[in-house]
Amino acid sequence: TEISTDGYGDYDFIVVSNRLPVDRVSDGGGDSWRRSPGGLVTALAPVMAKADGAWVGWHGAPDETLEAFDHDNMHLRPVPLSASEVELYYEGFSNATLWPLYHDVIAPPEFHRTWWDSYRTVNRRFAEAAAEVAAEGATVWVQDYQLQLVPQLLRRARPDLKIGFFNHIPFPPLEIFAQLPWRKDIIAGLLGADLIGFQRPSDTANFLRCVRRFAGHSVRQQQVHVTGDDGASYVSRAEAFPISIDVNQITELAKREDVIERSKQIRRELGNPKTILLGVDRLDYTKGISHRLKAYGELLEDGRISVEDAALIQVASPSRERVEQYRLLREEVEGTVGRINGTYDTMSNTAIRYLHHSYPVEEMVALYLASDVMLVTALRDGMNLVAKEYVAARTENTGALVLSEFAGAADQLRQAVLVNPHDIDRLKDAIVTATEMPPREAQRRMRLMRRQVLQNDVERWSQTFLNALRLEGEQP
Ligand code: G6P
Repeated sequence: TEISTDGYGDYDFIVVSNRLPVDRVSDGGGDSWRRSPGGLVTALAPVMAKADGAWVGWHGAPDETLEAFDHDNMHLRPVPLSASEVELYYEGFSNATLWPLYHDVIAPPEFHRTWWDSYRTVNRRFAEAAAEVAAEGATVWVQDYQLQLVPQLLRRARPDLKIGFFNHIPFPPLEIFAQLPWRKDIIAGLLGADLIGFQRPSDTANFLRCVRRFAGHSVRQQQVHVTGDDGASYVSRAEAFPISIDVNQITELAKREDVIERSKQIRRELGNPKTILLGVDRLDYTKGISHRLKAYGELLEDGRISVEDAALIQVASPSRERVEQYRLLREEVEGTVGRINGTYDTMSNTAIRYLHHSYPVEEMVALYLASDVMLVTALRDGMNLVAKEYVAARTENTGALVLSEFAGAADQLRQAVLVNPHDIDRLKDAIVTATEMPPREAQRRMRLMRRQVLQNDVERWSQTFLNALRLEGEQP
């Protein structure tokens, strides 16, 4: 269980995540790298530039070892994964064991010892890479469920480090977590961190209950008094830090002339219906896409919505396509869309414009601007940043958001039309309520939600977490 280390590295601030924050672009001549979209990089890039920062992560291709390299003021340290590790650690344990287990077992998690062995091996490799680049006394911030063993491995090898962990997805209730054959190892892995961040207070509470039950440490308020095998003891603290988006990026795009023009073009191309509804999700069974389609199909059948007046745009970006449950979901969703469109489309109108693509952020913001109603019906979601992006993009305070109470964003966006997506009749009512909301009422709600999002962007989130981490251990 020990990792090997060899002295100190050069970097004072290290982020460790499964994926590096860059995408490879192959442009004839050779490869280059481009910063990947997403708020986490945007929030941390300035911290990196200021603090001699390094990022440790997988570069996305199997069976390829790359040298470390620098890219816009960040030192990037690629961690190699073999094809079999992609299958066992990434597709297997991360995305067919932990992902469904942590999302309320919406899909059945699979438990395989070979997957667990690979998860341990790969977590060790990430911890070694982080230990290699970390200067004495550096701060290391580990991200998400793929790397839950890294904090403990790092602490053992490098007790000089300040270690933070943030879980981007939900942490499940004890009764569900208890299924995991390696539940004790995961808890011990996480408790290697000085500060463990979650999205919602309920995730934090779930975690602390699991700590009490499966690790037997004493827990006072949100502090865990951890005593190691060697008798050494320290405090590990758990707290909620709800993540957010890069507000400036979204609002600036939402004001750009070409983006606004593109949003009008989208409306025209759909035949200028009275109402455009929008769903934007990775094609994932946690997102409640089937529930949304069921509700929408029934509204068409009942005649409460017609294809002459309304169109639903559903963007489903391809995700984890080699994992069985994701293939099954795609079959199901595409079958449902085909049946609904076959039944209700006319020569000139479509019920659902279904797009199995991912788009650049400019196009996403044009879609947000083109849409009167945003549908976020996740059955379980750590946060859901699409909901926050929609709100940030609505610079005129128009539009309505239907939001699942099972998404972390429901803690912040209280003025959304909140729904339980399992309750199809209420979901149908919520869609109609949002579609027919009087403009003044819509404005009142959107203004309050925008204020919330604009005041709490992702930069504030990372600063809040890192400040709290800095104070760990320094208090009496
Ligand atoms: C979620 C997870 C991230 C993950 C992302 C995309 O947001 O919290 O850790 O990177 O999904 O999934 P992928 O498997 O393609 O990295």
